This record gives sequence, C-alpha cells and structure tokens, in this order.
Amino acid sequence: MEEFQNLVKKLLTLVISMFLLMLVVFFGLIYFDSYTPTEAPILEWDAATMVLNNPEVPELVKEGYQLLNASSQNMGPLQNNPELRFSGNNLSCTNCHLNGGTLSGSASWIGIVDRFPQFGGRANKMGTLEDRINGCMERSMNGKAFPSDAPQLKAMIAYMRWLDDGIPKLNTKVFKGYPNIKIPTIAVNLKLGAHIYTRECVQCHGAEGQGIRYQEKEKGYQYPPLWGNDSFNDGAGMHRVLTAAAFIKNNMPYLQANWENPKLTDEEAYHVAGYINSFPRPQKKEKEKDYPDKKLKPVSTSYGPWTDNFSAEQHKYGPFPPIIRFYKETFDLSKTK
Ligand code: HEC
Ligand code: HEC
Repeated sequence: MEEFQNLVKKLLTLVISMFLLMLVVFFGLIYFDSYTPTEAPILEWDAATMVLNNPEVPELVKEGYQLLNASSQNMGPLQNNPELRFSGNNLSCTNCHLNGGTLSGSASWIGIVDRFPQFGGRANKMGTLEDRINGCMERSMNGKAFPSDAPQLKAMIAYMRWLDDGIPKLNTKVFKGYPNIKIPTIAVNLKLGAHIYTRECVQCHGAEGQGIRYQEKEKGYQYPPLWGNDSFNDGAGMHRVLTAAAFIKNNMPYLQANWENPKLTDEEAYHVAGYINSFPRPQKKEKEKDYPDKKLKPVSTSYGPWTDNFSAEQHKYGPFPPIIRFYKETFDLSKTK
C-alpha cells in the first residue's frame, strides 16, 4: 500500500514538472519570437571560411590577405627572402585594422578604395591608396615604402576591393578612421595612465609593453608590442595621443570593447594613450619634412616644427583645446586631432 502511495506521489510530481516545463517552453517561445530580428544578421568575421578556404575568392585576394594579416612572415623580419622584406617590425597591418580590416571603429578598409585618391596633409597633396598604405609601411610598420607598381600593393588593394563586393554585411557603420573622442580639457596624467595600463592592458601587452609572442617564433605576436624596438615608430598616427586614444577607446581591451560598447571612458583612453607613448620607440627619419604646410599638422603631433608657440610637451600630452582654439582663431581651421 505504501509502495502504491509512493508511486502515485512520484507520478504526480512528474506530471506537475512536465506541465511547468511546457509553460516555460511556451512563454519562452513567445518571448524569443518577439525578439527575433527581421533583418539579415551581421556576419561574424571568420577568415578561414570567408577568405582562406573559400574557393570563390581569387588567389590575388588571398595573397593580399596574407600580406596584411601575417605581415611579418610575408613582408617583414620573418620573411626568408630579404628582397621581399619591407616592414621593419613584427606587427601585422591587422593588429590595428582589426578583423582583417573589416571592424567598424578600427579604421576599417571597407569602402576605402572608393575614398582614394584623396588629399593628405602629411604630404600636402592628393595621394593614392598606394601612397596611404606606404604611409603605414614607413611609420606603423617602421619599414620602407613599396614601389608604386609593386605586386604586393596590387594584392593588398585587390583584397580591399574584394571587401566591398564580397562581404558587404560585415560592417555595421562606416567611419573614416576612428570615431572621435571628446577631447579632455586637462593634460595627460601619466600616473593615471600607468594605473589604467596595469588594470586593463598589462595582462596581454606586458609590463614593458613588449607584447607576447607565440611559442612558435615563426608565427610572430599573439599580443603585439606597444612600445620599444619592435613597435610603430614616432612618426606613426598611433604615436599621436588623440589618435591612439580614439583607437583604444573603441577597440581595447581586446574583445571587451568596441565602438558601440566601449569599456574605457574618453579620459581613461586618453591617459593610457599618453602612457604607452611616453616610452622609447623607433625614430622615423626626416620627420621635419612631414606636413609641408605646417598649419595642417594634427595638434597632437609630438614633433616640430609647428606654426604656433605651444611647447613640445603640450603638443605631446595636451591640454589640446587651447591649441585647437588657436588654429580656429588664427587660420580658421577646425581640428579634431
Ligand atoms: C585580452 C588581451 C588584450 C588586452 C587586455 C588589451 N589588448 Fe591591445 N591588443 C590585443 C590584441 C590581440 C591586439 C591585436 C588585434 C588583432 O591583431 O586582431 C591588440 C592591439 C592593440 C594596439 C594596436 C597594435 C599595436 O601593437 O600597437 C594597441 C595600441 C593596443 N592594443 C593598446 C591596448 C591598450 C592601451 C590596452 C588597455 C586599455 C589594451 N590594448 C588591452 C590584446 C589586448
Ligand atoms: C600601429 C597601428 C597600425 C598599423 C600596424 C597599420 N596601420 Fe594603417 N592606420 C593606422 C592609423 C592610426 C591610421 C589613421 C587612422 C585615422 O584616420 O585616424 C591608419 C590609416 C590607414 C589607412 C587609411 C584609412 C582611412 O580610413 O583613411 C589605410 C588604407 C591603412 N592604414 C592601411 C594599412 C596597411 C596596409 C597596413 C600594413 C602595411 C597598416 N595600415 C598598418 C594605424 C596602423
């Protein structure tokens, strides 16, 4: 008799559980249904399926991708053939232009082919996309320019062009360069920068900013360096505090932040950008020739000459609003970086 009672109890519990489960599933479905997006989803970047193993992608595009994404092995210090070595550090272009140059807010290359030729202040003339890539070669990659008809440039540009036709759904928003930050009114505080670096960056980029290499040395960096001999040189855009701050705000810490959901505030990004740029790095030669029209120099360019009387210290670490005001009042130029 007791056994029978137990059985009834168990059955009852089972029936009630089933009923509750059905309720959960039913309301779950209704809820989920109302939240299903109707537009085609934004694709996740997946280089292996989209580019490298995709039979529909032309060889030249794949070659371009290899140069941009495994730069050290294909055109840098890890390239066995010295004649094919053009970049001087072990960075990849995609260390700064994330997800194969497709990520919004990291100076994405989507739409870039149509934007060139365009005027560039650094050379004070109309420049081609080839010139712009060579700009990053000589500065961000601390290397040398390719001849303008180099097959490597053709391959890289073929890849950039393919980004426009091949996978238009990848980018959520097109920015020219980085979304601007609100420029702080104070100077960079290096102590605060150091503090933020320890909290948010050191685990990947290292206490000496040296980054972390893959165990297989021939693969280059897992986490790229931020200063020192193997980093971008002092003529690079990333060496300007305002540019670096905009990159960092919208992209770092890696995988924890993007332009829609940044982790650091504008001021935090600014202080830590000043901090990483306060250490020694390779020196670009003949920087004084940059910006033949000196008043077009971005305000946070750390090297002179300038067409103003602000100190080198202030051009490097701010505060920038007084400099921006000076150019507005004197030359009617509106500067954002
Ligand atoms: C979880 C690891 C991780 C953390 C934390 C992190 N980064 Fe990065 N960072 C990366 C990776 C990985 C890349 C290269 C991305 C790629 O190749 O797709 C990168 C790239 C960069 C670059 C451009 C490439 C270079 O070497 O100059 C800068 C600048 C940078 N990070 C700064 C920072 C700063 C500042 C912080 C802290 C606010 C930070 N990162 C936090 C992993 C990290
Ligand atoms: C250390 C970081 C870094 C690396 C490495 C780097 N770049 Fe850049 N790149 C930048 C910055 C910073 C800008 C300027 C963004 C801005 O407009 O504010 C830029 C701009 C560009 C632009 C123009 C983007 C635009 O929207 O107008 C192109 C094209 C480009 N880079 C290509 C390359 C290529 C190709 C490589 C590798 C040979 C490379 N970059 C390596 C940081 C980097």
